[in-house]
Amino acid sequence: MNYKHVHVIYFSPTHTSAKIAHAIVEGMGAVSFSESDLTYEMPDSEEVVERELTVVAVPVYGGRVADTAIERLKKFVGKDSPVVPVVVYGNRDYEDALLELSDLLVQQGFTLLAAAAFVGEHSFSTSQYPVASGRPDQKDHDEAFLFGQHALEKLEACSSLESLSSLQIKGNRPYKEKKPSAPAAPLVDASRCNLCGHCIGVCPVSAISIVNDEMYSDPTRCIKCCACVKECPEEARTFPNPFAEYLYKNFSARKAPEMFL
Ligand SMILES: Cc1cc2nc3c(=O)[nH]c(=O)nc-3n(C[C@H](O)[C@H](O)[C@H](O)COP(=O)(O)O)c2cc1C
Repeated sequence: MNYKHVHVIYFSPTHTSAKIAHAIVEGMGAVSFSESDLTYEMPDSEEVVERELTVVAVPVYGGRVADTAIERLKKFVGKDSPVVPVVVYGNRDYEDALLELSDLLVQQGFTLLAAAAFVGEHSFSTSQYPVASGRPDQKDHDEAFLFGQHALEKLEACSSLESLSSLQIKGNRPYKEKKPSAPAAPLVDASRCNLCGHCIGVCPVSAISIVNDEMYSDPTRCIKCCACVKECPEEARTFPNPFAEYLYKNFSARKAPEMFL
């Protein structure tokens, strides 16, 4: 089967999922491609993806697909479209996230072609406690590129979407239980913050505003993605939490991408 157009869909507050998705699309050698970036907004109405080879990349939060990504992905319906679900995780574990994402996309009408889990710098990584710092790096990029090539070859070798073999994807059903986490949000060092408002623009859930001449992050809206921490031009924002040190001590050994074809 021949698909000339590739559609890439991602939710990616700190850009690692987006980078992996683009490397996969590069490997597919698409003549043309379109992009749905769900990071900052949800499509207003249902979007039908018809006869398009589709790559969907999202981050893992707590061994599951990030809630905001699920909510936004539910706006997409696949029609005669093979899909490559990809999760990106911070070198701890992706647990049931890839299976969950694959199930969701099949429910939305897509046909599974291949799937993969890649590693990206952990959202909670800091200079004191680096976790998968700088990933995806060149090696990850090259592996994602090759994976894209192989996924395309698999598609080209089959005569119809119905003839695609079923995939055995790592993970369990029922998926890992989601534990409620206490509302929290990054802290601002007022002596560094110049109220430039950059953080307001990079927050995927509009949790940040200026209140009484200070930056305010609403902990009930914040999803702890740390986009505002990583992108603050003044390095005025931090997200102190007990996980960073734990992750650094236990999950520093490099993990490799896992691919299902
Ligand atoms: C709230 C939260 C929970 C996370 N849970 C996990 C996890 O269970 N396992 C893991 O390895 N990484 C976890 N991460 C790290 C992200 O999956 C990782 O940093 C990913 O690369 C972020 O994707 P993005 O750059 O596209 O936003 C978590 C990050 C956040 C913010």
